[in-house]
Amino acid sequence: MSESSWTPQDLVSRSQEAKGFSYSPYSSFRVGAALLTTDQQLYTGCNVENACNNLGICAERTAICKAVSEGHRSFKAIAVASDMMDHYISPCGGCRQFMREFGLQWDVYLSKPDGSFIKKTVEELLPVSFGPEDLRRKKAVPASENSL
Ligand code: THU
Repeated sequence: MSESSWTPQDLVSRSQEAKGFSYSPYSSFRVGAALLTTDQQLYTGCNVENACNNLGICAERTAICKAVSEGHRSFKAIAVASDMMDHYISPCGGCRQFMREFGLQWDVYLSKPDGSFIKKTVEELLPVSFGPEDLRRKKAVPASENSL
């Protein structure tokens, strides 16, 4: 597919394909994600579970880690797919925070298996959030006086 021609429906479709690679033997809950960078690169991801339960990773974070580890930090949109017939898949809190790390004003498409979707911004999904800017804000006690 030529660059800059990704539609929201394409992203949803790629997230559904990625769902096919889901490794979810414990939950049987398949999730796929398709992440579009601002320079039109697409990274997909699926959830990858583990026998040591809390080590599993969500589809959205897989896709974001793939993109960041290849030098991309600026994102335009992410689509998420699951098998829930009657509900739009909604990213977990951890994934919302993970998205927020890379900005508040980009789009998240929550989809259903029939390809329908709703669009939210990261900020809509995680209002009044904590982010990287907060670490740089003026503090009441200078960090130097607060250390051992
Ligand atoms: N899961 C995701 O991959 N993304 C979400 O936003 C919600 C949950 C995965 C995690 C786990 O592998 C399975 O779905 C059930 O929670």
